[in-house]
Amino acid sequence: MNPAEPLQPRLSLRGIEKRYPGVRALAGVDLDVYPGQVHAVLGENGAGKSTLMHVVYGLVAPDEGSMAWEGEPLRLRSPREAIARGIGLVAQHFHLVERHTVAENLALGFPDAPFWRPTRSLLPRLRAAAERYGLALDPRAQVRDLSPGERQRVEIVKALMQGARLLVLDEPTSVLTPAEVDALFAVLRRFVAEGSSVVFVSHKLAEVEVLADAVTVLRRGAVVGRRSAADGLDRRDLARLMVGRDLAAAVADRGRARAEAIAAGPVRLRLTTCASTRPVGHRAPR
Ligand SMILES: Nc1ncnc2c1ncn2[C@@H]1O[C@H](COP(=O)(O)OP(=O)(O)OP(=O)(O)O)[C@@H](O)[C@H]1O
Ligand SMILES: [Mg+2]
Repeated sequence: MNPAEPLQPRLSLRGIEKRYPGVRALAGVDLDVYPGQVHAVLGENGAGKSTLMHVVYGLVAPDEGSMAWEGEPLRLRSPREAIARGIGLVAQHFHLVERHTVAENLALGFPDAPFWRPTRSLLPRLRAAAERYGLALDPRAQVRDLSPGERQRVEIVKALMQGARLLVLDEPTSVLTPAEVDALFAVLRRFVAEGSSVVFVSHKLAEVEVLADAVTVLRRGAVVGRRSAADGLDRRDLARLMVGRDLAAAVADRGRARAEAIAAGPVRLRLTTCASTRPVGHRAPR
């Protein structure tokens, strides 16, 4: 948490509830995200992270609960309304059109940019965002030729050009190389240093530990813990919150369950009294 944390959160969620047939995806979630903060939302597969982010971006309507944006009630009927408030989403699965160029994809996010001549109207804004955050992009490149990291950069630049003051990134590092992860973190740190906010969705403890100012942990749709970097983030503690018990014990349990499942299954290959008489350095029999 930043030392001079303002009292008013940029985004507040209270009692957010979302049910799908047979699953309570969100079970009364409260979340406060402050200006100048990277707020990590940590949780295992199926914890409800993406559903919560979709609520924040106007893609999913909650069944219950309320939201506030800089102290004002926030009701979103579409992503367009979220973008208009200053909320950007870099989704877990990108929303780009493969057959279009970078500029054409960016133009889809700007109703005022003519689709048939997008580069002309968008180039200055693209250049400004690229220079400010060190995010180089070739506007004429075809999206289908871009690496996953470059595609993600298009999504980030789009959100920045749209004036995002809260950038939500859903598992952004799963498609990145280690060098790209470092570059992304540098961009995010620069973004929050300007007073903007980031919600960083992840299940990777090491990344949360180095990047987050605050952490909210979700398990089965519910908030099971909150931590602040000011009090120190401890990987074991976060792991315990995320999986509900000690991580080592959870891994051992999974290993045991797997071993039991294998033991209960049919024998696929049986080796009896195998020995190799060749000297070291030769291939063993196969
Ligand atoms: N549109 C939907 N219809 C039905 N069930 C859904 C829908 N979206 C999510 N769910 C269910 O809600 C729960 C939370 O899903 P969600 O995708 O939010 O989890 P997550 O934390 O993002 O998981 P992951 O780490 O795998 O991305 C899961 O049980 C999921 O199957
Ligand atoms: Mg998800």
